[in-house]
Order: sequence, then C-alpha cells, then structure tokens
Amino acid sequence: MGLKSLLTLFAAGVVHCHTTEHTTSLPASKCSPDVLALPAIEGIQILSAEAHSVKNYTFVDPLLANATAPDYFDFCNVTFIYAHPGWNDSVQLTTYLPEEGWNGRFLALGGGGMAAGGEPLIHLYFTLVTPLMRQKFAISTTDGGHPGSLEEAVNVDPDWVFTSPGNVDLPMLFNFASLSLHDMAVLGKMLVEKAYGHMPEYSYFFGSSTGGMQGHSLAQRYPLDFNGIVAYKPVVNWVKSFFSNEVAKLTMDMAGKYATPCELNVLSALALAACDELDGVKDGIISRPSLCTFDPRPLAGRAFDCNGVPSTFSNISTQVAHAVYTGPTSPSGEFRWYGFNKDVPLHAEGTGPAALICPETGGTCSAASFHMSDLWLRYFYAKNASLNLKDLTLEQSDDLFLAAVNEYESIIGTADPDLSRFRKAGGKMINWHGLQDQLVPVNGSTDYYDKVLAKDPKAQDFYRLFLAPGADHGGAGIAVSDEDSLNYLMNWVENGAANETLQAAGKTGLGVPAKRNLCMYPRVQHYVTGDPSLPSSFICV
Ligand SMILES: *[C@@H]1O[C@H](CO)[C@@H](O)[C@H](O)[C@H]1NC(C)=O
Ligand SMILES: *[C@@H]1O[C@H](CO)[C@@H](O)[C@H](O)[C@H]1NC(C)=O
Ligand SMILES: *[C@@H]1O[C@H](CO)[C@@H](O)[C@H](O)[C@H]1NC(C)=O
Ligand SMILES: *[C@@H]1O[C@H](CO)[C@@H](O)[C@H](O)[C@H]1NC(C)=O
Ligand SMILES: *[C@@H]1O[C@H](CO)[C@@H](O)[C@H](O)[C@H]1NC(C)=O
Ligand SMILES: *[C@@H]1O[C@H](CO)[C@@H](O)[C@H](O)[C@H]1NC(C)=O
Ligand SMILES: *[C@@H]1O[C@H](CO)[C@@H](O)[C@H](O)[C@H]1NC(C)=O
Ligand SMILES: *[C@@H]1O[C@H](CO)[C@@H](O)[C@H](O)[C@H]1NC(C)=O
Repeated sequence: MGLKSLLTLFAAGVVHCHTTEHTTSLPASKCSPDVLALPAIEGIQILSAEAHSVKNYTFVDPLLANATAPDYFDFCNVTFIYAHPGWNDSVQLTTYLPEEGWNGRFLALGGGGMAAGGEPLIHLYFTLVTPLMRQKFAISTTDGGHPGSLEEAVNVDPDWVFTSPGNVDLPMLFNFASLSLHDMAVLGKMLVEKAYGHMPEYSYFFGSSTGGMQGHSLAQRYPLDFNGIVAYKPVVNWVKSFFSNEVAKLTMDMAGKYATPCELNVLSALALAACDELDGVKDGIISRPSLCTFDPRPLAGRAFDCNGVPSTFSNISTQVAHAVYTGPTSPSGEFRWYGFNKDVPLHAEGTGPAALICPETGGTCSAASFHMSDLWLRYFYAKNASLNLKDLTLEQSDDLFLAAVNEYESIIGTADPDLSRFRKAGGKMINWHGLQDQLVPVNGSTDYYDKVLAKDPKAQDFYRLFLAPGADHGGAGIAVSDEDSLNYLMNWVENGAANETLQAAGKTGLGVPAKRNLCMYPRVQHYVTGDPSLPSSFICV
C-alpha cells in the first residue's frame, strides 16, 4: 500500500472520528443490538447480541439494603454470546453502560473459584458494583464459557472440564486462564466506543483470588489491555498452590491417623502465643512471620488441656501442623511449594488448611478437603473425576505435581516475572494479600514479587504488593476495602499519585476494631508505641 493511500485512510479515519458523536450518554432508544452491533473481529464469531434498557435497578443485597439507602440505576444491559470458531465454545460477555454521565472509564470484573466471572457472580461484588454504577463506570464481566454463578464458583464437579473422559477441554481452560478476559477488554472497549463515540480514557481490571490470577495473567499475557489492575489475594502459581491445600489431608490419610480439633486448636493457640509479640504488640496477629520459629513437632507426647480434659498431643497432630506450615515436599523432602502462616488457624471449625470432619457422635475424625484443590487434582491433574484422593501416596501426589506443573504452568501459571511490556505501556498494578490467608499461601505473592523485583529493582514504580497482617482469604481481619484499593489504583494511574501505604481496617485477632497502614512489600508492619488500633502506632521496617 502506497503512502498516499495510507494518508487517505488516515484522513478518512480522522474525519470519521470528528463526525462521530462524542458523548457521555446512551439514551434508552439507542440501547439496541442493531445500534450497538460490533464490526467483524478476526477469531470471534458473535452468536447473539441483546441489549435491554434497565430502569431503576439496585445492586444492593436486599439483606444488607438497610445499611445505607440503596441506589437505583438506569443503564443499558448488553449481552454478547460469542464463539472462537473451531473451539466449540460459547462465551457470555455482559456489559452495563450508564445511560447518563458515563465517566469515561471502563472496568472489567474478574471471577471467583471455578467461575471466570459472569453476571450473577458480579453481584457478589455488589458492594463495589454499587459505587461503580454510582460513579458511572461502564462495567463488563465474562463467564468464560461456563456458568457465571456462585454455584459454579464452588462447583466440585464441573461438567465442562472434559470433552471426553480423560480429555481436558483446553480451549475452555484457555478461556478461564486468559483469553476470555482479553476478549472482554477488546469487545468491551469496542462496545463503549460504539455507545459513546470514543474509546474509554482509562480501562481497569479488578479481581481477587481467581480474579487475582486473572489480573496477573492479563499483565503478563496482554499487557496493553488495561491501564490499571487490582489483583489481590491472587492464586499466582495456580498449579502449585493447590498442593498446599492438600498437605494436611495427605499427611493424615497416608498415616491412617487423624488429629482432633482440640489438638489443632491448641497448637494454633500455642503458635500464636509464641510469635504474636515479635511485631512489638500482642494483638492476636503475627505481623512478622519471618521471625516466627515455632516448631510444633517437639510437642508430640506433651500434656495439654482440652477444654478441661487432660490430654496429650498425638504425633499426627504435630506432624500435620508442621506440614501445613512448611508446605508440600517431594518424597525425599525437597521443597515443592509454600505452606501457610502460623496465625492461620489449622482447623478453624472445619475451614482451616487442616480442617477435620468429625462425627457428631464422637469418634475418629477424617480430613476435609478444599473444593478447588480437590477438583484440580482429580479433573485437571489426574484427569480422573472419580479418583479418590484418600488413596494417593506421597509418590503419586508428587508425580501429579511435577506433571501438572509441566502441563499447565504455561497456560494458567501467571508466574512470568517479566512485566516489562506492561511497564512500558504505562500500566499500574496492585496486589494486597492477607498474611492469614487460609486458602492461598501468601508466599505465592511474595515469591512472585521477589522474582519481579530481581528482574526490575524499580518494579515498585508500577507494581506494588501490600501484605495485610491479620487478614484472611474471606475478608475477615484487618482488610482493604474494594473501593479503597480501586481508588488507590485510579489515583496512581490518573494522577501519578500513590501513597507508600495502603489503608486497611477491621478487627484484630483479639476482636478490637483497628486501622492499619499496610506497608509496601518487602517492608512489613512493626508496632512502635501508642494505641495499637491506630495506624500511627506502627512503622514499616
Ligand atoms: C425506584 O424503585 C424504588 C424501590 O422500588 C422506588 O421507591 C422508587 O420510587 C423508584 N424510582 C423510580 C424513579 O421509579
Ligand atoms: C437489616 O437487615 C438484616 C437482615 O434482614 C436484619 O437482620 C437487621 O435487623 C436489619 N437492620 C436494621 C437496622 O433494620
Ligand atoms: C441483562 O440481560 C441478560 C440477557 O437478557 C439477562 O439475563 C439479565 O438478567 C439482564 N440483567 C439485568 C440486570 O437486567
Ligand atoms: C460442542 O459442544 C456441545 C456442548 O456444548 C456438544 O454437545 C457437542 O458435541 C460439541 N461438538 C463437538 C464437535 O465437539
Ligand atoms: C514465607 O516467606 C517468608 C519471607 O518473606 C519466610 O520468612 C517464610 O518462612 C515463608 N513461609 C513459608 C511457609 O514458607
Ligand atoms: C512419634 O514419633 C516419634 C518420632 O517420629 C517416634 O519415635 C514415636 O515412635 C512416635 N510415637 C508414636 C506413638 O507413633
Ligand atoms: C479413576 O479412579 C478410580 C478410583 O480411584 C479408579 O477406580 C479408576 O480406575 C480410575 N480411572 C482411570 C482411568 O484411571
Ligand atoms: C495517604 O497517606 C496519608 C497518611 O499516610 C493519609 O492521610 C492519606 O489519607 C492517604 N491518602 C490516600 C488516598 O489513601
């Protein structure tokens, strides 16, 4: 193509740009699939498009609606169902476009558990969706090709994983790990342009847990898609991380011996007592886990008080605790992946990393499993949905680990420390991760961050990690609100302003309301003096 025709094309583009209405409103009359139809996109076939004007809608959970007066919104609800031809998939992308006063920003919401995202699921983010709609963001979410619901998020037997017995649906895995998120950026921004006559000024991705994996995946694989990414408590190192959830179960099942809730609860209390004050203050939180050398193993055979009943620690209870703290190893004891911090309650009424299921009538307990690790080991790693994890030997478990790392790391393993393209594109990303995370070892985040820093000692200029002492995976403890993390990111992206600390609030391990300023990793919080419920009583060391 000659220079002249290129210039003509360019000029045509400019003219087109000026003649297109540049607006922030989308009247209900224009909320139609015809008006909002997208041009052809290579690799994507739109199967259906719907657009409905939604009036006076509230995202607030009716159970909590009394906390603050609910907001009601008018928006255009656009649903695309599309396929990647030849992949036999069918992905649903949902976008809410404000009818009036669009703020120029596009925000994509990530998924949770086994759900890539999806319209029913984002209502889980209702505490964030309401302010987003109030501030007139255009927001998108994708189901990645399988149901985008809470049921799917906790589904133990998803029917989409195999195309036939033993064969994993790799395109669907691809969608879950990255591609449908990239599509969301491409299609979502095109839709915004179609609706308002111009591309978003800023595009953001927001996700946690599975969504945190997705955010890291985007920064690594599609670094141009988003200006800013919040990706917190992420399952980076997806493949390896699930073996940390299986360690306690494997230890007990292999020995055929089970700890009691009482033993585990007392061991957790002893670990906390040993290390709580290493950060200068007794608050039921271990803020300096690297100083904590508590070893449960010497306690085997020692007497303790189980709710008034004199007891002794069994060997298995101390072995389980040790395994949870150190993480999975090879049969010869080589490091495979990280364990959990010592202020993570081991049993925690059946939700901890060494959760037990005990018969109500008394008697021996069995080991519970975490639905995600259980599923990934059976379906993806062993490719056998009926595999009984209870029968695994340490050798078999380790074989699965090594094979799965080779097979899946390049697809879903978000551990590539080279973020130079994201940096060059001007992207900014934040991750905050609770030190008491009981499902995703926080050391996955620090391990990744260490590797990014080793490659780029100035990585804090565009990618920051904040560790949150006393925060768990579910939001309990001293945590960062979704709004605060997004505001931090937007301020950084749009104004170049970013505090060295990130604000968190909640309750200490003693149940006392407290605020803390989370430190930018590798620095950590340490108490100096004053009221421990105030952020000013701590410094970053
Ligand atoms: C929106 O719905 C709420 C609750 O149903 C109602 O109180 C309010 O009057 C409605 N507003 C409009 C403009 O329809
Ligand atoms: C708010 O709703 C919850 C759930 O229905 C209820 O338990 C609580 O009492 C309500 N609070 C107020 C202040 O009405
Ligand atoms: C958006 O549209 C889809 C498809 O028609 C529908 O299933 C969904 O309930 C709509 N959402 C809202 C909030 O109206
Ligand atoms: C495509 O997927 C559908 C279910 O989503 C299945 O019934 C059908 O057999 C698949 N076709 C091929 C060619 O795999
Ligand atoms: C996690 O990393 C810290 C250093 O950041 C280290 O002190 C600690 O032992 C690690 N934890 C585990 C369980 O490996
Ligand atoms: C407990 O473990 C120790 C060390 O591994 C071993 O010597 C001892 O025999 C074990 N006791 C029981 C009752 O299994
Ligand atoms: C799957 O696991 C079950 C239970 O352990 C076993 O009986 C079956 O043979 C396994 N299937 C394959 C194909 O290995
Ligand atoms: C930045 O930090 C200072 C004190 O450390 C605090 O007063 C201020 O509110 C923070 N700003 C934001 C946007 O969090």
